[in-house]
Order: sequence, then structure tokens, then C-alpha cells
Amino acid sequence: MVMIVAIDGPGAAGKGTVARRLAEHFGYAYLDTGKLYRAVAKRLLAAHADPGDAQAAEDAARTLGPEHLADPDLRREEVARAAAIVAQDKGVRAVLLDFQRRFAAHPPGGAPGAVMDGRDIGTVVCPDAPAKLFVTAAAAERARRRTLELRERGEEAIYARVLEELEVRDRRDSERTTAPLAIAKDAHVLDTTELDADAAFAAALVFVVARRASRLV
Ligand code: C5P
Repeated sequence: MVMIVAIDGPGAAGKGTVARRLAEHFGYAYLDTGKLYRAVAKRLLAAHADPGDAQAAEDAARTLGPEHLADPDLRREEVARAAAIVAQDKGVRAVLLDFQRRFAAHPPGGAPGAVMDGRDIGTVVCPDAPAKLFVTAAAAERARRRTLELRERGEEAIYARVLEELEVRDRRDSERTTAPLAIAKDAHVLDTTELDADAAFAAALVFVVARRASRLV
């Protein structure tokens, strides 16, 4: 049976880094599910469509291809902002849910497991995942990290603006009616406010190793 590691949490809490490193460590496939929502949003922005246009968003989700997921613009802040609007649409979520569940059931390359990160993996996409992590950090620390990351990429970033954007997105993600950002009942909460990337990975690894072992007995 495929081993699924579900990782949820708000933006810039470090879940992507933890997820990628876990996947590499165990030889599992990795899916950054935020990319799916960002790719739908980016297609709408490129077509000058309104991210809140449900019909256009569902069409974009249904016809998403690998070329859309490889777009380097997906990391941009305006795409993230539009992604959180697109993600409120039930129809878009239903289309993307199918794709994510297929990925979890049949990880590419015949990998023995999948690590998936997002907002609703442990609650909706893979509610039976044997290992669920909720990676979080204080908003001020997340904004500090995101500001540095943007500046390293050569983008202009003002801390106060970044913090405000993160909080707007957190609110949108937590308050939407379909699959809101929430801690699954059986998730292990990993607060990375005081941890660097290595310490966060080490803590996640201890947890996943224990979950894998308990599955084998
Ligand atoms: O994680 P990332 O910042 O790339 O996600 C972009 C947006 O996509 C999130 O703010 C959220 O609105 C949406 N998303 C979601 N469910 C997921 C992953 C991302 O709603 N599983």
C-alpha cells in the first residue's frame, strides 16, 4: 500500500521545504498542491479574466497541463493572491481533488509513497493518510521569511505589505466554506517559529518514521 504523508499549513510556514526533503529522504513522489491552484489563477490572469469567474476558473482547471505547472511565474505574489480566490470555488476544488487523489493512489514513477502539501490534504484529499503534519509558524515570522525570499528573487518586498497579504490569504483560506484550512483531528502540529529548516525537517522526520513503523506492526 502507498504510504501517504499529508502536510498542511498556512503560507510561508516551511511546509514546502519539509515536504520536499521528506520525499527525497524516503524516495516518495512529491506534489505541491498549491501549484495547481496557482496554475489555474495564472491562466486566468494571463487571459485577463476575473479570478472570481467560476466558469472560467473551472474550465482552466479542467484543461490544466504539465506546461502550466512549469510556469516560473507561479511563485509571484499576485498569482498567490488570485490563487486564494480561485481556491474558494467548489467546482475548481472538485476538478483538482480528482487529480490529487489519483496522484496519491498511484504516485508517478511507481514510488512507494507520496508526500503532498497544501491546505486540505489531511482533512479532505487524503483523510486516511497514516502521517499528517500541520506545519505552522507565527504570522510575523512567516512574513519575515517570505520578505527575505522575495528579495532574494529580486522582487521588491515591504515587510508590512507582505504580512498584510499573508493575513488576508490566511483568512480567505480558513474562512471559505469548501475545504478550509484546518488542522485535521489526527494531525501532528509542528510549529516552526523557532526552528530553522534543518530542525523543522528533523522533527518532521522523527514523526513520519514513527508513523511508518506503527503502520508496519
Ligand atoms: O501553498 P501556496 O501558497 O502555493 O497556495 C496558494 C493558494 O492555493 C493558497 O493560498 C490556497 O488558497 C490554495 N490552496 C488550497 N488548497 C490546497 C493548496 C493550495 O486551497 N491544497
